[in-house]
Amino acid sequence: MMQRRSFLKSTLAAGAGVSALSLQAAAEDAPQTATGSVFSGKAVVCGPAPDSLTILQPVHGPATGFLEIAVAGGPFQRIEAEAAGLLPYAQHVLKFRLPPVPGGVELRYRVTARPVDFQNAYKILPGEPEAIEPVAIRTLDPASASTRFHIWNDTHENLETLQLLHARTAEARPDFLVWNGDQTNDIYDETLMTGQFLAPGGLPIAAEWPLAYARGNHDVRGPAARKLAEFTGSPDDRYYCAFRSGPVAVLVMDTGEDKPDDHPVFGGLAAFEPMRRRQQAWLAETIQAAWFSEAPFKVLCCHIPLWWKDEVTDVGHWRFSRVCRDAWLPLLVEGGVQLVVSGHTHEPAWLPPGAERPIGQLIGGAPRPQQATLIEGVADDSRLTLTMRRLDGRALETVELTA
Ligand SMILES: [Fe+2]
Ligand SMILES: [Fe+2]
Repeated sequence: MMQRRSFLKSTLAAGAGVSALSLQAAAEDAPQTATGSVFSGKAVVCGPAPDSLTILQPVHGPATGFLEIAVAGGPFQRIEAEAAGLLPYAQHVLKFRLPPVPGGVELRYRVTARPVDFQNAYKILPGEPEAIEPVAIRTLDPASASTRFHIWNDTHENLETLQLLHARTAEARPDFLVWNGDQTNDIYDETLMTGQFLAPGGLPIAAEWPLAYARGNHDVRGPAARKLAEFTGSPDDRYYCAFRSGPVAVLVMDTGEDKPDDHPVFGGLAAFEPMRRRQQAWLAETIQAAWFSEAPFKVLCCHIPLWWKDEVTDVGHWRFSRVCRDAWLPLLVEGGVQLVVSGHTHEPAWLPPGAERPIGQLIGGAPRPQQATLIEGVADDSRLTLTMRRLDGRALETVELTA
């Protein structure tokens, strides 16, 4: 012990210019956050399929931490966010990828975090650990006979809208929530992103139900948009995914920007076309999977509509946005997708299927409370009903699909 202590002392003194005395003094002065808590909001459960869940815990960094989960009443097991041998040293978010868990079970989770004073490579001082109360969610169940879900869109950081949406979703406790793009106006500052994406106004937007995050055209604007993956838990840090909840198979796809990549406004920094082609290849594979093809109902959620209410006079907007339709529609039809749910125009609309379009499209309103909408989905194995409501509860559209 004496040998080790003197080695440590001499290493620190020679290598990092600190003495054992100052180390001892600093250890007695463990780091603390300005607010008194290391947590800066409730956790968000993202994914949302049971084999791709991610738990995002906002923190007042710098901080580190670990996750514990208990599946179906079992004991808690510890999950580390280790990457290439390193545990987190996070400024804003601790991000935990879960191992695959069964569908349709109770999953309890608990995050423990502590502030870290990283003074130098030889002097890292951990603060007191702090744990959240365990939170229970129910994992999505592909085998369930029914499901209920909510869709938000174009909240654009309008806190009153978010509070009203959250209140209705908290009351209904759906199986999952889709946040269908334009969470923000733009992303300039990493320090604001917890408030933009994880805990707006301190709301626990998806602590107790899984969230499917869809990216909108505003969420790719601004230099810090490149940090978005740190604040979202989409599978493989891309912004498209597919999952099944009871009789409904859901595709979430990323429509990217609303102008061509070579538009001068992007200054040569946009390359959404290759991303759309990657999604085309992914879609071709996804529609072949049995869990998808055998679902009684198939729905696509994507931010920019594939069709516009008026493609004659609104030709500018429509022309720019047609690229996703051209890239994906043949596969959506082949895969039996019956409904597209979008946002972006901020004007609620129902465009029924017919000669002009093979698939019906529901568009949510936004962003002020008087303009915003909540889309509620309810399905059993014979019927899927989507009701688009104003935030005072008034129904604007009801769309019914039969299997
Ligand atoms: Fe928008
Ligand atoms: Fe948009």
